[in-house]
Amino acid sequence: MPKPRIYVTRMLPERGLNVIKQHFDAEVWPEYAPPPKSTIIEKARNCDALASLLSDKIDAEVFNAAPKLKIVSQLAVGFDNIDIPEATKHGIYVTNTPEVLTDTTADFAWALLMALARRVVEADRYVRGGQWKVAWHPAMFTGRDIYNATIGIVGAGRIGYAVAKRAKGFNMKILFYDVIPRPEMEKELGAKKVDLDTLLRESDFVTIHVPLMKETHHLINADRLRLMKKTAYLINNARGPVIDEKALYDALKQGRIAGAGLDVFEQESTPIDNPLLKLDNIVVAPHISSASLETRSKMSEMVADNLVAFFQGKQPPNLVNPDVMKVKPLSKLF
Ligand SMILES: NC(=O)c1ccc[n+]([C@@H]2O[C@H](COP(=O)([O-])OP(=O)(O)OC[C@H]3O[C@@H](n4cnc5c(N)ncnc54)[C@H](O)[C@@H]3O)[C@@H](O)[C@H]2O)c1
Repeated sequence: MPKPRIYVTRMLPERGLNVIKQHFDAEVWPEYAPPPKSTIIEKARNCDALASLLSDKIDAEVFNAAPKLKIVSQLAVGFDNIDIPEATKHGIYVTNTPEVLTDTTADFAWALLMALARRVVEADRYVRGGQWKVAWHPAMFTGRDIYNATIGIVGAGRIGYAVAKRAKGFNMKILFYDVIPRPEMEKELGAKKVDLDTLLRESDFVTIHVPLMKETHHLINADRLRLMKKTAYLINNARGPVIDEKALYDALKQGRIAGAGLDVFEQESTPIDNPLLKLDNIVVAPHISSASLETRSKMSEMVADNLVAFFQGKQPPNLVNPDVMKVKPLSKLF
């Protein structure tokens, strides 16, 4: 039996890529920048599988061009770049890589939070820029305390919970908002469930951990930013479009909130003329929250494990569109 054909849209970490190469007839896009969509479409035409990244737009145009395509295995927990209803309609299985990146991503939300509150990046620029002339002054780079402060977690799923666990170590008051109850947040961490407006009004640090969906697009808009304390910080390492970036710029520029830590943007990569980048009260990163060596290797392994299980006729462990099994049951595929 010939091996199934797969197109891999980027050079994945070795651990997973080696497994893919062992089980599949694999072609890998070799460049650092993503393949153009036309290339993905052209390659998908003859493939049984795709391994994708969150920067690849995988939609009906791809599915319509790919009659043999059976599965898209994505290296990310978020899958807002994939049109899931269309995939399901076409009988295409979609998988992601949850859990292995939870702690790494929560750590990075904390890195942004702490860098903001204690002005680490500003201070670094000050020292390197030769501005540090006076050895010590009581008013130099005064920031905000993290311990005993109130943190508001928007989206208390895996990453939101891991962020809250860390907050407990800082003796923080923990508020959260979610569309589902999440009793473990209350029982295990003593967190309090509140509505979004209360969370925004009462928190010193607001951190976003919801997936990007129709319902969460611009969830944090101008009106909601107006509810936040003048001294509060906003952290987002979920997805850029959850925050209205233009409204965030206005709030930061007018000093209506104290600062923002952003790993994600409405457009990625964010253009150098994005006005946000002119502000001193933000800390930014290029979408690297899950970027630890070990986690990226584990993610690549999961991409491979989902593919291998599927082509062995089993339900892939991280199937995000289980309804597809009604459209195209595994028994009809293999
Ligand atoms: N920056 C990065 O590199 C990076 C890395 C990992 C994950 N992420 C993002 O983080 C997101 C969260 O990941 P996770 O593993 O914690 O997901 P999860 O599914 O475990 O948690 C998401 C939570 O958000 C809640 N939610 C959904 N819609 C909501 C709404 N409208 N209002 C309030 N809450 C809502 C869900 O009920 C759930 O509890 C991912 O979807 C991804 O986009 C980003």
